[in-house]
Amino acid sequence: MRKNIVAGNWKMNKNLQEGVELAKAVCGKTIANNVTVILCTPFIHLSEVSKAITNKSVFLGAQNCADKVSGAYTGEVSAEMIKSTGATYVILGHSERRAYYHETNNLLAEKTKLVLANGLTPIFCIGEVLEERESGKHFEIVKKQLTESLFELSADDFSKLVIAYEPVWAIGTGKTASPEQAQEIHKVIRDHIASKYGKTVADNTSILYGGSCNAANAKQLFANPDVDGGLIGGASLKADDFITIANSF
Ligand code: 13P
Repeated sequence: MRKNIVAGNWKMNKNLQEGVELAKAVCGKTIANNVTVILCTPFIHLSEVSKAITNKSVFLGAQNCADKVSGAYTGEVSAEMIKSTGATYVILGHSERRAYYHETNNLLAEKTKLVLANGLTPIFCIGEVLEERESGKHFEIVKKQLTESLFELSADDFSKLVIAYEPVWAIGTGKTASPEQAQEIHKVIRDHIASKYGKTVADNTSILYGGSCNAANAKQLFANPDVDGGLIGGASLKADDFITIANSF
C-alpha cells in the first residue's frame, strides 16, 4: 500500500545552525506511526542535518540535483553527492526551478534517471499556473508533465517515485486548492499513471498536495482518498506547525 508522506521543502531559508535546530526540534516531537516525514533542506545543510536526525520516522532530502553525473559543472551538486550525505529523497521539477531556472520536462527526465540510478527517491513535482487552470487546461498540463518526464521509465522504476501536485497559483499565496479541487486532479493524475503502468502501480504511488497547506487545512486535504500527504513550504519552517500537519492523517 502507498505511504502517507509529509515532506518539508525549506527552499532557500534557514542558515546551517538554524536548520540543524529545526531538524532537532522536529525529531523531538511525537510523530504518528502512519506517516513518513521528510526534511528537504538546502544542499549545504544535508550532511549536518543528517547527523541531527534521531527519529526513525524522519528522513532527509535535497531540493534539486544536477543533470550530469560528475565533472566540470561549476556550482552543481550531483545525485551521488546527495546520496553520500545520507539523504534518501530529492525534490525534482519544483515550479520555482521550472520558472526561474528554466527546467524543462526533458531536462527533468534526465535528472530523474540520475536520482534513481543512485538509489534515491525523486519527489517529482507537477502543477499548472493560474492561466492554465482558468482556461481549463490543468488536467492536460499535469498529464503532459508526467508523460514527457516520466513515462519512459520502466514500471519498476516508476514505482519508486513520489509525485507532488503543486498548483503554482497556490504556492506561497495563502490560496489553497479546495479539498474537492485537490481530490479531482489527484484522481486524474492517478488515472493517468494507471493508463500507462496499470492500476497496481497507480494505487501504490503516493501523490502529495502542495500549495499553502498548513496546520489548519491539512486534515481536510489529507482526508481525500487520492491525497496521500503534503509537500509543505512556509509551514515546514516551524516545527510545531509542521508536525501538526504530519499528524493530520
Ligand atoms: P507553500 O507551502 O509555502 O505554499 O509552498 C509550497 C511548496 O512550494 C512546497 O514545495
